Amino acid sequence: MSSPYLQGDALAAAIRDGAATLRQRFGEAPSIAVVLGSGWAGASESLQDAERLPYQSLPGWPLPKVEGHVNELVVGKTAAGARVAMLRGRAHTYESGDCTGMAAPIRTLKAWGVQVLVLTNASGSLRAKQPPGSLMLISDHLNAPQRSPLVGLTGMDRFCDMSAAWDRALRQTVLARAREMGEALHEGIYCWALGPQFETPAEIRMFQAWGADAVGMSTVPDVILARHAGLRVLGLALMTNMGAGLSDEALTHELTLSEAKKNAERAASFLTEALNAIHQTL
Ligand code: HPA
Repeated sequence: MSSPYLQGDALAAAIRDGAATLRQRFGEAPSIAVVLGSGWAGASESLQDAERLPYQSLPGWPLPKVEGHVNELVVGKTAAGARVAMLRGRAHTYESGDCTGMAAPIRTLKAWGVQVLVLTNASGSLRAKQPPGSLMLISDHLNAPQRSPLVGLTGMDRFCDMSAAWDRALRQTVLARAREMGEALHEGIYCWALGPQFETPAEIRMFQAWGADAVGMSTVPDVILARHAGLRVLGLALMTNMGAGLSDEALTHELTLSEAKKNAERAASFLTEALNAIHQTL
């Protein structure tokens, strides 16, 4: 099956054109960009002097049709003055089987001049001490499907180092801010599952045995693309449910969305504080 996303020279041209469009529309790049996953979109609503651009205006950017995503870029300032770009909508590998859907957005942000990418998502929890509503700071990940958006690239830089993919200094900054705020933020390991079906209880037990603390259907292709592009990366996961078999609840997308909604305000205000704290260090 051919890819639904631009590749090769067409992708390179789209990145150049997209970065020029962003410069023209918004001026200089903010230092920080955020991919808003389910439950996190509220952070974009509190931005001041916000300006928006639909993904349709940016060549090669995906138009995912996932419930709860609107496919627009929002650029504005937090109340504390941190200028950020927020992506409302991300491509998921389960939509097409192709894991390169975020290549154009992430490389365009880098070409524009962004330095730090914050990836957020909704996840299933694999730990009893991390119930639905908990926030987890991603310290490392498991690429369970063993898929890579870098497959097919040539050149030495495709052999991208992932030993410090989740930036230690950014994590220290955000953990310190969480402590100041009294927000119980714990670090943990995120496991990518391809989806779109939820996991079986046996798969959840396997991921637990591998050392995972949370499971979700996004984020890992994004961090690979971002590290390959030379961006520093931070990850925040909102637990919306216990993993399959860890509670009596049947898993549905509606359940994850409604649990995400319940915690949306807290997640958004924590994210805003995390962005303020990171901004102060750049
Ligand atoms: N599994 C995979 N992805 C998810 C889950 C889950 O339990 N919850 C939210 N996203």
